[in-house]
Amino acid sequence: MSSIPFFTLNNGVKMPAIGLGGWGGEKPHEREAARAWFLTALQSGYRHVDVAQIYGTEESLGKAVRESGIPREELFITTKLPAGHHSRVAESFQESLDNLGLDYVDLYLVHFPFPFAYEKGVAFPKNPDGSIKVLDSPSFVQIWADVEKLLDTGKVRAIGVSNFSVKNLEILLKSAKVIPAVNQVELHPYLAQPDLVEYCKNKGIVVTAYTPTGYQNVLTNPTVTELAGKYSVSAAQIVLAWHVARGIVAVPKSSNKERQKQNINLPTLEKSDVAKITALDKGERLCVKPDEAGLVFGMTLEQLGW
Ligand SMILES: NC(=O)c1ccc[n+]([C@@H]2O[C@H](COP(=O)([O-])OP(=O)(O)OC[C@H]3O[C@@H](n4cnc5c(N)ncnc54)[C@H](OP(=O)(O)O)[C@@H]3O)[C@@H](O)[C@H]2O)c1
Repeated sequence: MSSIPFFTLNNGVKMPAIGLGGWGGEKPHEREAARAWFLTALQSGYRHVDVAQIYGTEESLGKAVRESGIPREELFITTKLPAGHHSRVAESFQESLDNLGLDYVDLYLVHFPFPFAYEKGVAFPKNPDGSIKVLDSPSFVQIWADVEKLLDTGKVRAIGVSNFSVKNLEILLKSAKVIPAVNQVELHPYLAQPDLVEYCKNKGIVVTAYTPTGYQNVLTNPTVTELAGKYSVSAAQIVLAWHVARGIVAVPKSSNKERQKQNINLPTLEKSDVAKITALDKGERLCVKPDEAGLVFGMTLEQLGW
């Protein structure tokens, strides 16, 4: 078992390779209850937490941070710009800081490449037919310029994107003044994203894996459980160790103190075992998947480049 390494972002900022996922559920009481499990994680040694304005857990994280007494500079806090806020980047960023009760965040991500209509407090604004109110503009190229300006405020240490494909990164990088420090995407052994990982590595973009455990789908895979036996750890520890071995940051969510501890106490895998897990890839999305209309949050797979 080894301690969690730091990965260095393209602007020199150091990011812990494992962070706590901060999605707490849909209901207000679940989001408030996250304060308690954020606190147990911080007390167990987590120094990196991943939230988003649409998770509704920024306030809970801020409370847990203050309750923990951990000096702010020891922590790495990520939050994200909602898709409905692309026309109000500066305002939305300040709302996130106010929710967190912090002076700055370590990483600010564009949560989704394409814009939704703005409706205060609504993550997924809907048309009368139930479809998401997607907009034609602003483009992610336009809003990236606004996100870049946030760096000048000194209130964010690094900026990045989420749910971006090679196709959309290529478009963004043609005009970006600042190359995103991070691209956070769904990534686990059943969706190993080799091309995207290689592309980001070549551009100096650190990849962060969401849904990093691959849920029970991956955790019950015989190759994974066999390796868990070999290293005398849980299946989740094997999968998280695989991410770290590939140079990928992972943000597993657990509200359980024991599982939180497991997830930051990882074995070092032999190279051949890393390859065995990578070979499980079948391009299968487990978290963010197309709906019956073939759309992901109102966008086609072609638009997303997925
Ligand atoms: N950028 C995006 O669009 C996006 C999308 C989705 C998620 N995310 C981020 O990624 C984070 C994680 O994503 P996720 O929740 O989909 O996936 P995940 O963290 O891989 O899976 C969470 C599930 O795994 C369980 N779990 C955690 N550790 C375990 C262990 N050691 N053994 C067995 N089960 C374990 C948790 O249960 P317990 O809590 O009961 O332990 C929970 O049910 C989110 O919280 C969020 O921060 C980002």
